[in-house]
Amino acid sequence: MPAFLRLDQALSWAALCTQAEAMRALDVRSALAQDPNRVAAFSQAAPHVYADLSKHHWTPALEAQLQQLAVETGVLAQRDAMFAGAIVNDTEQRQVMHWLLRQPSVQGLPVTLHAAWREVQSTLDAMLKFAEQVREDAAITDVVHIGIGGSDLGPQMAVQALRPYAVKGKRFHFVSNVDGHELDDVLQGLSASRTLFLIASKTFTTIETMTNARSARSWFLAQQGGEVARHFVALTTNVTEAGAFGIETCFGFWDWVGGRYSLWSAIGLPLAIAIGAEGFRSFLAGGHAMDQHFLQAEPAANLPVRLGLLDVWYRNGLGYASRCIAPYHSGLRRFPAYLQQLEMESNGKRVDHAGRALPYATSPVLWGEPGTNGQHAFFQMLHQGTDTVPVEFIAVREPQHGLAEHHEQLLANALAQAQALLQGKADAGGHRDFPGNRPSTFLLLDRLDPASLGALIALHEHRVFVSGAIWGINSFDQWGVELGKVLAKDIRQRLTTGHLQTLDPSTAALLQRVRS
Ligand code: F6P
Repeated sequence: MPAFLRLDQALSWAALCTQAEAMRALDVRSALAQDPNRVAAFSQAAPHVYADLSKHHWTPALEAQLQQLAVETGVLAQRDAMFAGAIVNDTEQRQVMHWLLRQPSVQGLPVTLHAAWREVQSTLDAMLKFAEQVREDAAITDVVHIGIGGSDLGPQMAVQALRPYAVKGKRFHFVSNVDGHELDDVLQGLSASRTLFLIASKTFTTIETMTNARSARSWFLAQQGGEVARHFVALTTNVTEAGAFGIETCFGFWDWVGGRYSLWSAIGLPLAIAIGAEGFRSFLAGGHAMDQHFLQAEPAANLPVRLGLLDVWYRNGLGYASRCIAPYHSGLRRFPAYLQQLEMESNGKRVDHAGRALPYATSPVLWGEPGTNGQHAFFQMLHQGTDTVPVEFIAVREPQHGLAEHHEQLLANALAQAQALLQGKADAGGHRDFPGNRPSTFLLLDRLDPASLGALIALHEHRVFVSGAIWGINSFDQWGVELGKVLAKDIRQRLTTGHLQTLDPSTAALLQRVRS
């Protein structure tokens, strides 16, 4: 990557910092009352998603300065480099092209990417053909997807979210944890001959996935379920290892697809089986529409850019260390977990592209639960706790059930919670007072369908890209997950041998206790 200025090197950032106190103290209630244009100024339509950003601690003038920050830090140039196929992931010397997976034609693509696009299309066609075959195969009643991290969170979240669009007569199961309880639970209810196992692993070496895959294969053989080659499919970039496992049907992808960006690739096969080829293409189209918005909308009307700037403002300007994700749709119950990997694995970094330690904070902690459940659990802290936690509401106008009363109550709660966080309430003082003036984003979809889910995910991918670009970090590697993997191998051996040499006293004592 060519060098760009980082957050702390930008002149506009120094100017922005001088306004932090004023913006923290900004009474958004008064700002809304006094400025009849505030809601319009902070409303942003993007493909399939409408956003209200008016309840935040910023003003149009401040946002304009944040836009200047984006210019100084080369956000758009970095975006264009990604879409041109440059080596954006420079610690692994890789292009970053998950967006190419949802590109419908070569139109507008650099000629250098045409060959990659054609490969994507032929893999997609083969995968969707296979998905249709499985959908029509009445002998297969259960699909078990085994994978972890990006090879699990995306497909699991999306299959749940789009359940109303799923083929009838098939059940989908997801096994990620190496904790045998998870696989055991799933296998209990299965008939081997009626089950299709999808082994999803970019590397096909991840210990959790391979352990689960081997145990699933042993169970399948013990149950005399049939041929492994017919009942096991691999979704991987490592075709050789998949072959060694005994798998013949393999759908590949490329090293330029990061694990947490891989739902659009062969890793999305369970979703394709669930919603069919047409549904999956519509999902890709929704993501592509958001790509086009990110590429073409002017920065001041560009939702990923605006959200990414707000994220930087909150993290570094106002010092908010976490963001609560509150999807008011039970189909999105795994969306907070999905976003945790997307944002925290991408931007949980402490050095810049050149490996220099950063003098400022990066990824916030993301967390959340679907509303209205969260209201009866942790919303107390959001309303009256000592920390300000920006909340991101995600609501859907049209339900896919006939229980109209439920949906009205659900939407009323989403709106009321955002309103309560903003308004607060002065009471007799003390325990019953709500300070209010607490910030939230409100994202609204017309309905949760394949296209809007695709757009919602791509929106978050790009917003994470924007904040990562301003922070000057590589959002596409994940070295921080490696150390634990290496140490677990060593500890595993020590659990057998009991050797404690060179261990710190705490780990040694725990290991002894576990072994006893
Ligand atoms: O350990 C983190 C990670 O590398 C993630 O980035 C990735 O999504 C996950 O492991 C699974 O990796 P794989 O798809 O290679 O099994």
